[in-house]
Amino acid sequence: MSSRAALLRSRPILGYATSTWAIRSSWRLPMLEMDGIDVRYGATQVLWDVSLRVGAGEVVAVMGPNGSGKSTVLKVAMGLKTPSAGRVVFEGADLTRAPATARPGAGMSIVLERRRLFPRMSLRENIEIGGFVLPRAEARAQMEGVLALFPELVPHLEASAGRLSGGQQQMAAIARGLMAKPRLLLMDEPLLGLSPALQTRAFQLMADINARGVAILFNEQNAALSFRLSHRGYLLESGRVVLTGSGTDMLNHPEIRRVYLGEAAA
Ligand SMILES: Nc1ncnc2c1ncn2[C@@H]1O[C@H](COP(=O)(O)OP(=O)(O)OP(=O)(O)O)[C@@H](O)[C@H]1O
Ligand SMILES: [Mg+2]
Repeated sequence: MSSRAALLRSRPILGYATSTWAIRSSWRLPMLEMDGIDVRYGATQVLWDVSLRVGAGEVVAVMGPNGSGKSTVLKVAMGLKTPSAGRVVFEGADLTRAPATARPGAGMSIVLERRRLFPRMSLRENIEIGGFVLPRAEARAQMEGVLALFPELVPHLEASAGRLSGGQQQMAAIARGLMAKPRLLLMDEPLLGLSPALQTRAFQLMADINARGVAILFNEQNAALSFRLSHRGYLLESGRVVLTGSGTDMLNHPEIRRVYLGEAAA
């Protein structure tokens, strides 16, 4: 593991854990475990025996060509799609058949692609909604903490969300996801439609979020950025996991370098 990754992993847990045992065991036990997942849409099977795990405090990327099943993996984790086989276990609780609405209370937040804000409500209201599972005082404190991560949103808090730029809306969707104090953030294409400068900003933000102790499972087309940020990654092809390893291993794998990073075959 790189020293940066080690830092990202060790810092948050020290803040959360109450005993040495908790520190040690949190590394050994996966936080999210997806095991042997099959998914069908009608008669068509689109995921085959997909197994994936996210440890406490880890950033995990799912990569793959268009249509390989990345969003479907995220949907199963989010409770938006029930698998035809396999299990989804989060912190020891079986959530395979639990609906998406049960996720925030369980410590998982969802950031969907295409943002899905309420356009006529203010930016502030849109973000506050994410904290509905928290008591009021706690939600207020969390709002302050979240806004500290997004200084660029502060001047626009009273504007209608529909008037914000695409980049600001995407930041707002992430801010909303953080309001529920998740221990795991699930993100389907968090950088979709962002300019290169904003993509870099969004990745920095994901690193900052992770440094505060939040694990992240996401899928994103940009392999170079994704695997650099991630502790571990998975490569999907036609609905199957064909490669998995540390972020660095994934980044250095010849197939990934050739197909996703556009390098000529040696
Ligand atoms: N609601 C649906 N009904 C039927 N088939 C679907 C549905 N959603 C996805 N699929 C199919 O499932 C497969 C996996 O789709 P998925 O959206 O998970 O892929 P993806 O890797 O996220 O693709 P992209 O890179 O385009 O976002 C594809 O063949 C897709 O056509
Ligand atoms: Mg997708």
